[in-house]
Amino acid sequence: MKFAPELARRGQIHRRNAAEKTPHGETWGVNTGGYAQQLFFNEPLVSHRSERELVGVEQRFYDQLRHLLEIKAATGQPTMMLDFGGMFGLSLARLAAQPELHAQLETGKLALVITNLSLNVDEALKSQKKRPDQLGQKEIDLIREQRPWLHYVQGDAAAIRRQTITLPDGSTLPLAGNVDLIHEWFALAHGVKNDTDIPRLGKLLSPYGSLWLSSSTNMEPSNRYGEVTHADRVAADALGRANLAELGLTELDLQGRKSPYHIFVQPGTPPII
Ligand SMILES: C[S@@+](CC[C@H](N)C(=O)[O-])C[C@H]1O[C@@H](n2cnc3c(N)ncnc32)[C@H](O)[C@@H]1O
Repeated sequence: MKFAPELARRGQIHRRNAAEKTPHGETWGVNTGGYAQQLFFNEPLVSHRSERELVGVEQRFYDQLRHLLEIKAATGQPTMMLDFGGMFGLSLARLAAQPELHAQLETGKLALVITNLSLNVDEALKSQKKRPDQLGQKEIDLIREQRPWLHYVQGDAAAIRRQTITLPDGSTLPLAGNVDLIHEWFALAHGVKNDTDIPRLGKLLSPYGSLWLSSSTNMEPSNRYGEVTHADRVAADALGRANLAELGLTELDLQGRKSPYHIFVQPGTPPII
């Protein structure tokens, strides 16, 4: 693996930035975890007509989860999707509300996981401190309705490697090695050490897993990271993606089409496009 310079110093800055976030005070400009973007820039953008409707990449997640459930039925292993830095997890709540997926959640064959550095979603929904312009009442109601089927996990890429979730039958499942689809949107865009964090996410994947990374296209040129320049963060991000090859992951060929995502796949990943 190759790392950008000053990893130890960047690690300290990351820990300080993360420690500034509190369970009640983790606020961001984009915070619903609801995604309407398309996989390809040349596909028309569609708005949600209802809080339950799947559009854009949500439909791609739905199709991928159905393929994974089919393949994994023979292994006895549950299918798991994780939205890394997903805040309220609105898109995963929408997926949970789809009858075919909901049935699989109830039997423990599917698990939906949302990570945040520190947000406590239950407290945040209770305290009504969310930004009403971002999360409407119907969306809040949908998240509350699906809450029993959503796993909210706190931690950064290093911490979540050690986390487990509890399935409906009471058994525990480690995230490491068991995640079949990891989605990242405007999370690693804030990262100062993506050279280590991207391969850490790669290590969470199952043999069927894929990693959908938007960090390189969404990297925030924010002044908050004055101590680590934008150019250094971009360079660390590129090294992080290059490091995935050492884990046996290959970048999905998007056949010349432009996308906000780089998608990395395991040999066993079902077709995505
Ligand atoms: C701007 S919000 C994005 C929320 C969601 N993906 C969306 O687009 O609506 C940033 C999210 O990424 C997480 N995050 C930010 N920096 C991170 C880092 N360095 N490592 C892990 N998570 C991070 C935050 O906890 C939060 O959940």
